[in-house]
Amino acid sequence: MSDRVTVRAPAKINLHLGVGPCRADGFHGLATVYQAIGLYDDVTVTDSATWSVTVTPVGGIDCSGVPLDDANIAIRAGRLLARHHGIERAAAIDVHKGIPVAGGLAGGSADAAATMIALDRLWELETSDDDLLALAAQLGSDVPFALVGGTARGTGRGELVEPMLDTGEWWWAVCPSTDGLSTPTVYAELDRLRPDADEPRIPAALEQALAEGDVHALAAALANDLEAPAVSLRPDVGQAVQAGREHALAGMVSGSGPTTVFLCADREQAVEVLQALGRTEPHQLIVAPAPVAGAHVVRHA
Ligand code: C5P
Repeated sequence: MSDRVTVRAPAKINLHLGVGPCRADGFHGLATVYQAIGLYDDVTVTDSATWSVTVTPVGGIDCSGVPLDDANIAIRAGRLLARHHGIERAAAIDVHKGIPVAGGLAGGSADAAATMIALDRLWELETSDDDLLALAAQLGSDVPFALVGGTARGTGRGELVEPMLDTGEWWWAVCPSTDGLSTPTVYAELDRLRPDADEPRIPAALEQALAEGDVHALAAALANDLEAPAVSLRPDVGQAVQAGREHALAGMVSGSGPTTVFLCADREQAVEVLQALGRTEPHQLIVAPAPVAGAHVVRHA
């Protein structure tokens, strides 16, 4: 019997983020392609009489915006899993945070997915994959993908995920911003800029680029409907994308931003892009391979 389980969960980017009209429930219909990148939060759970969460920054991440009470998505995930099984247990949750906060990289979603996988193992619940995905969808639109990882199509409000064929080994240079952007604010700005949206769809050229592992075709196919509103709210983000594009194969805002990501031919080019953008401190050299696995147990003691 173990009394401590650590699960690693990846950040995500959206290779394509097509946003449709606002639905009656306040969410927007999406046609997106998620990719899990090698930038992680590690979540450790231990049994406890009460729920608690601590957050330890890794590599200079600013964690000051992360709530440490019941509003934290990791605690919400743990409570939801316990309630699903009708058990009255609680846990201490320790998050080692390598994914920038409020950055458009789904770090909170990673924590929620990791907490569910960790508690499922700690408490030997053997929750089915279908149940985990359904619980994840209740926690947030991106949480199911954090369980699945790899490269996947996302539809509905993003919660319906389906793995895609991806034969590539991709390299991303990741540029976080010091101030986060609120996801609802970015969606609202999109509605303001573009009141009449069409139903979104995933372009065939992107699917083909992934299936063939063709980095130049992938560079040409990247697209994010949330980039324009993120740049409208934060012009400095637009300047960062433009500057990085001169050194990389392609660049874009990640999800709802403000993190920017740049597709590179290899690790060396990714380092060069970051250095050209003035990211010269060791903790600023965030180079991430992709795709990587979804939330998985890394320690069990
Ligand atoms: O599902 P999640 O908690 O990540 O969503 C956060 C907010 O982002 C939602 O409350 C909504 O304002 C916006 N959102 C949206 N359409 C989506 C996903 C998120 O409008 N498909």
